[in-house]
Amino acid sequence: MSQEQDKVFFRNYSIVIGILAILIIVFLGLARFVSPTGKGVDSSAAAENTAPAGKVRLEGEAMPVVEVKKEAAAKPAMADAPAEPGKQVYSSLCFSCHGTGLPGIPQLGDKAAWADRIAQGKDVLYEHALKGFTGASGIPMPPKGGNASLSDDEVKAAVDYMVTNAE
Ligand code: HEC
Repeated sequence: MSQEQDKVFFRNYSIVIGILAILIIVFLGLARFVSPTGKGVDSSAAAENTAPAGKVRLEGEAMPVVEVKKEAAAKPAMADAPAEPGKQVYSSLCFSCHGTGLPGIPQLGDKAAWADRIAQGKDVLYEHALKGFTGASGIPMPPKGGNASLSDDEVKAAVDYMVTNAE
């Protein structure tokens, strides 16, 4: 390499280093600006989020205090709950339309969507659920939700379950 080439190289190299130095300062400033605390990275949240799930207790160390959530302990397990036929029918069939957010179909627990329907009276709801019904939505509610092997009582129980959840 000639001396002239060296000079050019040295100049270009210095420019690159200078630009990098400026970028570092800019990014440091930006990091400070976008950090929620304005004081750079909030390391306390990071420590909490990356904390190990458990710790080894060494001999001689005190036993940890374990908080038992009373609310959760007091609730009976699902299996212990008495069987609700309406809920069962709902979960196994009606849910596929009335619990999946399909537009135009009154959803479980959607009070606004059920108010006018409930106002027709239970007998009308039973009738529509048993025999099928197409109303303002233009989408057909199939007889017995599409499962003809359901008994009338099972379908009515499912209607009761949905009505109870919308009152
Ligand atoms: C294939 C989808 C589908 C399934 C499955 C389904 N429904 Fe429906 N259901 C509808 C639609 C759509 C409507 C609204 C019809 C309308 O108002 O135009 C409706 C409306 C109803 C209504 C209100 C009727 C009224 O008079 O406003 C009841 C009650 C009802 N369904 C009960 C049930 C029960 C009980 C089951 C399960 C056994 C069930 N549905 C399963 C689609 C379904």
